[in-house]
Amino acid sequence: MFYNGLGSAVYLSHLLISEAVRWGGTVIDATAGNGNDTIFLAKLVGPEGRVFAFDTQEKALQETSAMLEKSGCAAQVTLINAGHEDMDNYVQVAVDVVIFNLGYLPGGDHNLVTSAETTTRALSSALKLLRPGGRIGIVVYTGHPGGREECEAVELLASSLDSMLFNVISLTFVNRSSRAPVVIVIEKAGALNESKPSAQNT
Ligand SMILES: C[S@@+](CC[C@H](N)C(=O)[O-])C[C@H]1O[C@@H](n2cnc3c(N)ncnc32)[C@H](O)[C@@H]1O
Repeated sequence: MFYNGLGSAVYLSHLLISEAVRWGGTVIDATAGNGNDTIFLAKLVGPEGRVFAFDTQEKALQETSAMLEKSGCAAQVTLINAGHEDMDNYVQVAVDVVIFNLGYLPGGDHNLVTSAETTTRALSSALKLLRPGGRIGIVVYTGHPGGREECEAVELLASSLDSMLFNVISLTFVNRSSRAPVVIVIEKAGALNESKPSAQNT
């Protein structure tokens, strides 16, 4: 697991979704980028599992591929050069987890960035693909052009989900600037999650 303490949005998303990943399970990395999240997931599902990793940039997938070879877990990963908004064209089975690490490729072109429109379409597909008890982890960056709008669109979609069907949390860094990232985690009710909130906890 990526570790930088509670100051790291990526660490928090890994921490909160890992419990839902099963050895041998199927998961999605919606934004492969430099491959860190893909490797994290590939290690969690193991050699019998499957990670579908999407990115619109060939450069990102090449970097991810090289990282996977180095870490010895390339065999359980399918790299897909397509937008995550089309994930349901490529994945037709229920998945344990979908991870989104939004924004631009670190070290790459800042204009090639995720957007409110495609991210919300991808989230809608991810919600359908998620198995009961599965989780979606989203790290949203707000400091670049379009980032705040994307964050608001994700929060709007997440807050509209029926609380009997989904648990949704949002983590913010309350002592940092308003440009700090936000972590949103969505859990589909079911298997790991049979308990309903009592009246005083609604
Ligand atoms: C912050 S980076 C991801 C970091 C990555 N998860 C890692 O561990 O290194 C965001 C990535 O999203 C990709 N991206 C932008 N729009 C996309 C889309 N519609 N579908 C899939 N990936 C997209 C960018 O090319 C970029 O590589």
